[in-house]
Amino acid sequence: MKKLIVKGGNKLYGTIKVAGAKNATLPLMIASILSSKRLTLTNVPHVSDISTMANLLETIGVNIGLDGSNENDGHQGRAVYFETNKDIQDPVAPYELVSKMRASIVILGPLLARFHKARVSLPGGCAIGTRPVDLHLKALEQMGAKIELKNGYIEAKAKNGLRGADIKFEKISVGATQNIMMAATLARGVTTIKNAACEPEITDLAKCLKAMGANIEGEGTPEIIIKGVEKLNGATHKIIADRIEAGTYMVAVGIAGGEIKLTNIESWTIEGFKNELEQSGIKINILNDNEILISKEDAKINPVNISTQPFPGFPTDMQAQFMALMTLANGSSKIEETIFENRFMHVLELVRMGANIKPDGNTAIIEGVKNLNGAEVMATDLRASVSLVLAGLVANGKTIINRLYHLERGYERIAEKLVRCGADIKIEY
Ligand code: UD1
Repeated sequence: MKKLIVKGGNKLYGTIKVAGAKNATLPLMIASILSSKRLTLTNVPHVSDISTMANLLETIGVNIGLDGSNENDGHQGRAVYFETNKDIQDPVAPYELVSKMRASIVILGPLLARFHKARVSLPGGCAIGTRPVDLHLKALEQMGAKIELKNGYIEAKAKNGLRGADIKFEKISVGATQNIMMAATLARGVTTIKNAACEPEITDLAKCLKAMGANIEGEGTPEIIIKGVEKLNGATHKIIADRIEAGTYMVAVGIAGGEIKLTNIESWTIEGFKNELEQSGIKINILNDNEILISKEDAKINPVNISTQPFPGFPTDMQAQFMALMTLANGSSKIEETIFENRFMHVLELVRMGANIKPDGNTAIIEGVKNLNGAEVMATDLRASVSLVLAGLVANGKTIINRLYHLERGYERIAEKLVRCGADIKIEY
């Protein structure tokens, strides 16, 4: 099985081009279902979750192809088109594909909105918690959908189409906000989403839907208002930069030392974790809207407490990386995970590398140690595996990271990008 072998000790110097955001791309690909015209997405990241979503959409009947217009850009930042130009009689999102990636549930609203029915597999359990879909289903029922759960599938119908509704989410959910925002674009009347997620990926989705002709206001705030329209057109949309990938490389500099320029980013999207990284001792120099310079001159890392929160708070998707940084801090820090109930799987692996971490429920106390030591480690999710790569950059000796496929779900050519900046990383088959 493919492994990543990281030899610690090298500082990082160079430039890294950040990819388009995986978490923005997935719902944007789904948005293509809402129109019979072509949607072209540019800056599409080359990661395996995108291929999984493409498989799901093709299974349902969406035509997908590479748009040759930016061939010179290698496989980074590709342009991909999506076309759902026929009526799909019985759209089914099967278990084999949905269970691979929970983000697939977001397909339910758009299928109902355009084709008035859908069968979507329940996503099932996942490594970072139970992650229910109740908010998605309740909101679609409020919009007039009839929903039944049968044989592990959500069977949904809206015979006369969806209608606008006043929806107040009990909990902030990125996926439920995306699902309902998309469904509402083609519903009859006005939909108000209260307690909506404010993540940059939501703003990006709204921007694309508006380019397709949707009538949306308030995206990026907790109240989004969508006036349904009869149909949506095609559009070309550039995907927002991956703030979590950017943040991961910022932590890489914090841990290994050196200086890296990050390009192709959106500077405003790093607000959720910029202060905490600066408090830890990382220098962040925002050069312009799309570039930042990250540097770390000395080896001293200050302890910083964090609590994960919805945007603009500290993102749960940066928690594991930040914990890797704190394992080497000059003192004790506390990390609280408030979004997912089981998102400390990296703790035991970091401990195997010599970290001193005491988890207690949704909190972990980290006593900084002087050194980490390379070890053979295994991760069970995307961000947990990258935290081990980060730890490996500074650990004594070799760190061998198994189950590389977790990393490949969301990091485009991570080994290559870090190696170009001086890291010693090899992929072994
Ligand atoms: C998205 C991101 C993921 C990120 C998460 C939180 C994508 C593809 N994934 O996941 O990387 O970690 O946002 O920023 O964009 N919940 C319910 N009922 C529901 C839906 C959610 O109770 O119907 C709960 C979840 O269990 C969790 C919390 O709400 O505790 C937030 O989850 P949500 O924002 O929905 O996460 P995702 O959209 O799945």
